[in-house]
Amino acid sequence: MKTRIVFLGPPGAGKGTQASRLARELGIPHLSTGDILRSAVAARTPLGLEAEGHMSAGRLVPDALVLDIIRDRLHQPDAKPGFLFDGFPRNLAQAGALEKMAVVERVVSFDLDPDHLLQRLTQRRVCPKCQSVYNLVSQPPKTPGVCDKDGTALVHRPDDRPEAVATRLKVYAEQTAPLLEFYGERGILRPIDADGPPDAVAERVRRALE
Ligand code: AP5
Repeated sequence: MKTRIVFLGPPGAGKGTQASRLARELGIPHLSTGDILRSAVAARTPLGLEAEGHMSAGRLVPDALVLDIIRDRLHQPDAKPGFLFDGFPRNLAQAGALEKMAVVERVVSFDLDPDHLLQRLTQRRVCPKCQSVYNLVSQPPKTPGVCDKDGTALVHRPDDRPEAVATRLKVYAEQTAPLLEFYGERGILRPIDADGPPDAVAERVRRALE
């Protein structure tokens, strides 16, 4: 099983849902640049203050900020046995920079049609404290509106508003989708069908990592 992994795919395809369970199973860190940036925004750090406007509008945060986060994170001891990047790299410049920092063994790309993506994003609710992800239809919390793990009130992400979603999908098509060719040429890309129940998708991910 590969342990130096990148998950690629449009917003709402289910990368975060699969990444958190797989990283636990493999004992490697789940490195979500989106989660790291959202925590920085919540803590009002200088990084968060700079990232906030870009994120709520659905645009990418400048590469220099993101690459600083990645460099620091890859140096931490828990990333020695492997890593699972979710939401990074996001463009060709980030992919080029990552090649200089670490060897990626496998890139799993999540395919889902736009109607399903929109449905998943509209129904998503997240815990602002522990970042757990729910879905009003497919993965509801045990008590409506409240995180199962810490009892915090769930929120709708600001960038899940329709205008921001439209920008995120456009940014994905223009800046992130070219990575499919980049990693395809390197022979490490494995596309998977991201439709269906989470357990079925998890099985496809596992097969893609063999
Ligand atoms: P980020 O947090 O990375 O967002 P994203 O890539 O747009 O992905 P999402 O979190 O929206 O979706 P997901 O694929 O993880 O789906 P999920 O599992 O939650 O980035 C946010 C922002 O941060 C960016 O726009 C940018 O501004 C900035 N940023 C981050 N990284 C950056 C970088 N490298 N460079 C520059 N800027 C960066 O699932 C979605 C919903 O569907 C949930 O409700 C879930 O419960 C449900 N669901 C999941 N799987 C299934 C299933 N199989 N069946 C039914 N429902 C399902």
